[in-house]
Formats: sequence, structure tokens, C-alpha cells
Amino acid sequence: MISQTVLIMQESFLKKINTKNGKEATIRYPTLDDVIEMTQYINDISREDTYITFSGEQITLDEEKIYLLDLLKRIENGDAVNLLCVINGKIVGITGIERKISARRRGSHIGIYGISVKKEYRGYGVGLELSKSVIEEARKRMAGLKIITLSVYKPNEIAFSMYKKLGFVEYGVLPQGISFHGEFVDEVEMYLSVI
Ligand SMILES: CC(C)(COP(=O)(O)OP(=O)(O)OC[C@H]1O[C@@H](n2cnc3c(N)ncnc32)[C@H](O)[C@@H]1OP(=O)(O)O)[C@@H](O)C(=O)NCCC(=O)NCCS
Repeated sequence: MISQTVLIMQESFLKKINTKNGKEATIRYPTLDDVIEMTQYINDISREDTYITFSGEQITLDEEKIYLLDLLKRIENGDAVNLLCVINGKIVGITGIERKISARRRGSHIGIYGISVKKEYRGYGVGLELSKSVIEEARKRMAGLKIITLSVYKPNEIAFSMYKKLGFVEYGVLPQGISFHGEFVDEVEMYLSVI
């Protein structure tokens, strides 16, 4: 069950935007009711085999339910923020920032950011609006957050350009760090200071 805190947070953050192709979109937190749509969204974008870590794997509804329940708990605990962009009841973009746990308390001031927009809706301002909203939410809700980091694959020039626009700075490259479409491409690391 989602606690009262998450419900209040979900009600308190609701943004309406107009996309560049004239659609009215809502940016909001996910709820358990989104599980079917979220499963379909991740499976569609996985099949597309684009610049995200999923490359064709398919998730079951049960797996997504477990993921979503855990995510809502992490949101409640101030360890994650996550937003959907919805147009006519369909999810067209998802973004999130999750507290880094791999370095335990030594890395807990770091948030790891991810984003994707459904293919047909790219280039209409959804990605930029989602990003600004999720960064704003992370600043408010994730206590002690100082740095947001991300990884972008070198050929992904659109994402790279968006991240620079948001103020992210490149701080490193892992040469051939990603296996992508049959070749090894560089993985570029970027950060944004949010002190
Ligand atoms: C990267 C991604 C999230 C951007 O979302 P989007 O909704 O397409 O982006 P927007 O329309 O908000 O554009 C944001 C900025 O990206 C850049 N951009 C977008 N489309 C572009 C294009 N066709 N050519 C060049 N730059 C482009 C621009 O800098 C743009 O800012 P501007 O409109 O002020 O010029 C989206 O393309 C996507 O989901 N791609 C596949 C998955 C992915 O790459 N995820 C990120 C992994 S690191």
C-alpha cells in the first residue's frame, strides 16, 4: 500500500505542459495504477533497442509490480524521485533520480539520473520539461543531495546536447564502455552540482 506521505506528494506535484506539437501533457508521480502502462512502456522502448540499458529484454507485469512497489517505498524514504509524462492517458516519458547506494553512506549525497521519451514524442520538449521537473523534485525531496550524475553513450548527441543545456558537465569517459548495436562505444560520464 502507498502511504499517506506518497499520496500527498503525488497530489502536490502536478504540472501541465503543452508540447511543441500541440499536445497537452501532465507530469506527475507514478502510482500503482500505472503498472500496466509502465510495463508496456518499458517493453516497447526495450524492443526499440535505443540508448538505454534495456536492449530487447521484456519485463512481466509481476516484475514491474515488484519494481514499482519498491520505487514507491524509496520515494517515500527520500531516496528517489520519479516522474511520468502522460498524454491522453498514455505514458510518453519516464524519468527518475535514485540515491546512489553502491558506496553506502559515502555516496549517499549522489543521485543517479535516467530518462527516456517514447519515440513518437521525441523532439517536442517533453525530455527537457521532465528533466527540469525531476531535478527540481530531487532538490526538494532528497535530503543531503549534492551531485546528480548520469551516463550517456557517445553517439547519443541529442541527449548529450540536452544534458549540457541543463548544466551537466562532462567529467570522464570510459572508452568502449558500452556494447551497442554490435560495437563498443564510449560511455560519457556527466555531473550536475545541486548544492
Ligand atoms: C534524450 C531524450 C530523453 C530527449 O527527450 P526529447 O523529448 O526528445 O527532448 P526535447 O524535445 O525536450 O529536447 C531537449 C533538447 O535536446 C536536444 N534535441 C532534441 N531533439 C533534437 C534533435 N532532433 N537534434 C538535435 N538536438 C535535439 C536539444 O538540445 C533540445 O533542446 P531545444 O529544444 O531547446 O533545442 C529522448 O530523445 C530519448 O528518450 N531518447 C532515447 C533514450 C535516451 O537517449 N535516453 C537518454 C539516455 S542517456
